[in-house]
Amino acid sequence: MLRPAADADRDTVLAWRNHPDVRAVSLTTHVIAPEEHAKWWDVVLEDPDRHVLIHDDSGVVIFDCREDPPSWSFYLDVEGLGAGLLAGWMRLEKEAVAYAFGELGLTRLGGETLATNKQVLALHRRFGFTEVRRYERLIDGTPQVVVWTERGIPQ
Ligand SMILES: CC(C)(COP(=O)(O)OP(=O)(O)OC[C@H]1O[C@@H](n2cnc3c(N)ncnc32)[C@H](O)[C@@H]1OP(=O)(O)O)[C@@H](O)C(=O)NCCC(=O)NCCS
Repeated sequence: MLRPAADADRDTVLAWRNHPDVRAVSLTTHVIAPEEHAKWWDVVLEDPDRHVLIHDDSGVVIFDCREDPPSWSFYLDVEGLGAGLLAGWMRLEKEAVAYAFGELGLTRLGGETLATNKQVLALHRRFGFTEVRRYERLIDGTPQVVVWTERGIPQ
């Protein structure tokens, strides 16, 4: 089940975010220092337009409602899930979609994924997201293609 993050989750989330596999598919790839993370954490947890949610068995989901349509990002507990990565990921994505259109009452949800991250794009498709546009973004100084996918409320 997804639950709102608490301060006790802060270090766990940093460890998940700093896993090399997660950094490799992120929009900034440096190792995030504890101070940088703590600063971000305090701001995000206080922001009524952002929601950090923990799935204790799988990872973290972040909804950002500051823009229209709202967007989401997520990362998995790669170390902890081990061979159960795909199953954990499907649980997380299913619950994230339900949370967005249920608890948060959103009507559309978008997200950015690196074009090279075929696995995430395939799973997003399976969960009803469609590609809206692709564009270049500088990822640590190197231009890379990013795909914006979106879906609406379940019919
Ligand atoms: C992987 C993913 C979550 C990485 O996102 P990200 O690089 O942290 O970027 P986001 O857009 O979520 O972060 C927004 C900002 O918050 C910062 N931020 C995010 N998490 C942070 C943290 N833990 N500590 C400090 N800063 C953080 C980012 O650096 C970024 O800062 P900027 O706007 O100044 O550049 C995101 O690209 C994504 O959801 N991709 C699709 C799903 C995916 O591939 N998931 C990984 C599967 S394991």
